[in-house]
Amino acid sequence: MCSSTMVLAVMLMLSCVMAASATPCNFNQDIDINWGGNEHVKIFNGGKLLTLSLDNSSGAGFQSKKDYLFARVDMQLKLVPGNSAGTVTTYYVCLSSQGPAHDEIDFEFLGNVSGQPYTVHTNVYAKGKGNREQQFRLWFDPTSALHTYSIVWNAQRIMFMVDNSPIRVFENNEAMGVPFPNTQRMKVYSSLWNADDWATQGGRVKTDWTKAPFIACYRNFNVNDASSTSTNSVSNQAWQTQQLDTMARKRLRWVQSKYMIYNYCADFKRFPQGLPRECKRSRFL
Ligand SMILES: *[C@@H]1O[C@H](CO)[C@@H](O)[C@H](O)[C@H]1NC(C)=O
Ligand SMILES: *[C@@H]1O[C@H](CO)[C@@H](O)[C@H](O)[C@H]1NC(C)=O
Repeated sequence: MCSSTMVLAVMLMLSCVMAASATPCNFNQDIDINWGGNEHVKIFNGGKLLTLSLDNSSGAGFQSKKDYLFARVDMQLKLVPGNSAGTVTTYYVCLSSQGPAHDEIDFEFLGNVSGQPYTVHTNVYAKGKGNREQQFRLWFDPTSALHTYSIVWNAQRIMFMVDNSPIRVFENNEAMGVPFPNTQRMKVYSSLWNADDWATQGGRVKTDWTKAPFIACYRNFNVNDASSTSTNSVSNQAWQTQQLDTMARKRLRWVQSKYMIYNYCADFKRFPQGLPRECKRSRFL
């Protein structure tokens, strides 16, 4: 039986990538679909590959079954290609229940009209306090292949990495009175949704529903947390004290000088009473 659904499924899979590789987490076992149902969240290759799709009836999302207190999370993503204006793909770790002491570490990918660049939006919420946005362009086309986006979250710092290049580091400055997420367990979430009231060019460009479904691909979801066991346990646990070495520092400087398009720490208009405390600490923030 070759239904059109099946043809679509094969096309979805081909539009991600076919190459097999070691897959530590399995989308069939390690995540729950939390939005869009099986219509909008599809899992292929025995749990190695997942697609989210957005159409005019629904967006889509999933979350990890487990929660973590400190972890390194890696995910390969291929973002919505073509005219992705109005769409937002998110990937974040977050407290499973929202409350006043909300913690969250965010990657959001804001779509654009064909040929115009995505914006990578990052933010950190700690104990309910957010407003720490930094935004970036990417140095590659994030819609033509899978790339790895990582969140390293340990007791000393949070690092946002793209293909292993750090793009942002948020140090634990609790000693200076700056909240840091280090008491609450968080899950990994991802979603694809319509945000055309604000996402693209400030909301001026709307989602073109004639181009739906919009599809984002995921592969090689991997979480290392303190309880991870592995034959390779030394390198497996390196994230727990991970910091920038000289090379990584150089790379971060390169990304931030060439690709950063917004930095709350440089937004004097927004903070007329003075920049947030952590901004004074490091020239990289
Ligand atoms: C949603 O899209 C489908 C397929 O393009 C179309 O038939 C339907 O009318 C649309 N519904 C709405 C509410 O726009
Ligand atoms: C989309 O492209 C325009 C023009 O290059 C750019 O100003 C904008 O920042 C891009 N990203 C978004 C999310 O609007």
